[in-house]
This record gives sequence, C-alpha cells and structure tokens, in this order.
Amino acid sequence: MRNQTVLNSSTSLTAQGLACCWALLCMFLIAWSAPSAANETAVPDVGWAATLTSGCADCHGVDGLARENLDAPVIAGMPAAHIEEAVYAYKDGARQCRYEPLMCETVLHTSDARIADLAEHYASQRRGPSNEPYDTALATKGEKIHAEHCGQCHVSPDDPEVADALGIPLHGQRGVYLRYALQSYKDGRRENLLEAMGEKLNVIGPDDIEALVNYYASY
Ligand code: HEC
Ligand code: HEC
Repeated sequence: MRNQTVLNSSTSLTAQGLACCWALLCMFLIAWSAPSAANETAVPDVGWAATLTSGCADCHGVDGLARENLDAPVIAGMPAAHIEEAVYAYKDGARQCRYEPLMCETVLHTSDARIADLAEHYASQRRGPSNEPYDTALATKGEKIHAEHCGQCHVSPDDPEVADALGIPLHGQRGVYLRYALQSYKDGRRENLLEAMGEKLNVIGPDDIEALVNYYASY
C-alpha cells in the first residue's frame, strides 16, 4: 500500500515534470520561430536562392553579378525571357561555349523547370554600372554608333519601354565579355536570333566595337 502511494506520487511528479517541460519547450519554440518567420518576409530567402543557383553561382554568383569570375557575363537584371532563350541556345548548340565548356555542360543537365526558376531569379536581381574604367572620347563616339545602329533595340535602362525592348541591357556588362560576344556573332560562333542585329553588326568594325564597349561602361 505504502509502496503503491509512493509509486503513484512519483508517477504524477514525473507527469507534472513532463508537462512542465513540454510547456517550456513550446514557449521556447514559439519564441524562437516567431522572429525568424518575420525575417523571412523582410528579406528574401537567401538559402533558397543559394540552393536554386548552385551550379550556376560558381561563375555567375547568386546575385548574377559574377563578381568572383570576371570572365563570366553579368546576368542580373536581364529579362527572364532572354535568360531562358540564351540557356536553350547553349543547350541546342546555337551558341557555343568556347572558353568555358563547363557552362554548356551545366545547362545541359539542368531541367526545364529549374531553368524557368533560374531565369525568374536572375531577372529580379539588381544590375548597376560595371564601374570599369573607360575613355570619355571613345565613349562619346560609341554613344553615336549606338544611337545609329543599336539603340532602337538595346534601349537605355530608364526608357519607359525598357520592359518590352527587343534588346537586352548592355550597361553593367564587363568589356571582356562584350568584345567576346560581339566578335562571336561576327565570326558565326553565335547564331543571331534576329537578322536585323546581324545586319548592324556587319557594318561595324573593331574600332567601333571598342568605342561601344567604352560607351557601355559609362552608364
Ligand atoms: C563554369 C562557369 C559557368 C557556369 C557553371 C555557368 N555559366 Fe553561364 N556563362 C558562363 C560563360 C563563360 C558564359 C559565356 C559563354 C559563351 O557565350 O561562350 C555564360 C553565359 C550565360 C548566359 C548568357 C548571358 C548573356 O549575356 O547572354 C546565361 C543566361 C547563363 N550563362 C546562365 C547560366 C545558368 C542559369 C547556369 C546554371 C544552370 C550557368 N550559366 C552556369 C559561365 C558559366
Ligand atoms: C533589331 C534589334 C537589335 C539591334 C538593332 C541590335 N541588337 Fe543586339 N541583341 C538583340 C537581341 C534580341 C539580342 C539577344 C539575342 C541574341 O543572342 O541574338 C541581342 C544581343 C546582343 C549582345 C549579346 C549580349 C549578351 O549578353 O550576350 C550584344 C553585345 C549586342 N546585342 C550588342 C549590339 C550592338 C553593339 C548593336 C549595334 C551595333 C546591336 N546589338 C543591335 C537585338 C538587337
């Protein structure tokens, strides 16, 4: 009988202790989860972006500014449709990766659904000037060439029609990549998606390319 009482009271003590622990644990979990839920609405989910861009981020960065790999193009703030178009052009060989075969290999093994998410993500990243040094006289010359041959498609970032423009933003792109891309179109290593752009590139020479590169670094 005595034993029984002892047993009962100790059981109920354990039960009380457990209930108390649960209450504490719950309070702790609520206190711990509440601020992190608030954080998620305040800042983008960096973990999700890092997971999504793994495989691309080594070269283009999570933010698309390619700060760690100066040979890779800046893809932040490029319209999502162009990012998808470019990725499929590398997949089907219309664009070739001459100095970075890993780029083409990586996109070959990326699913269509993931490409769509990656395009949305990189399109929503902020793009600014490249901050590369440029020659003012060359930039002025480049501005004129641009206005005559390129400006109807590659509009300036503050143009009200920028979202519907045919051309993609060229400011903020590094000179080394612009020279390479323009030369690739001219040499036929990239198919032009638009014949109209191919015609314009036929009439510009190496000096014009240099002037344009300086102009795109200036804004
Ligand atoms: C090993 C480095 C590397 C990796 C990994 C990589 N890229 Fe690239 N990316 C490049 C280089 C270099 C180019 C330019 C290739 C060329 O045209 O020769 C490029 C070009 C591009 C372009 C075209 C940019 C433009 O201005 O038209 C897009 C879009 C792009 N990459 C997206 C991606 C995505 C999405 C992934 C991941 C699935 C990825 N890249 C993985 C290096 C890389
Ligand atoms: C008729 C519209 C049009 C004209 C004119 C045009 N472009 Fe383009 N440009 C495009 C489109 C669309 C693309 C992307 C599709 C592609 O890769 O072919 C592009 C791509 C580019 C790229 C590649 C950028 C990258 O990140 O890979 C460069 C560089 C470029 N254009 C520069 C120029 C220059 C310089 C001129 C003038 C001499 C010019 N374009 C004239 C529409 C145009």
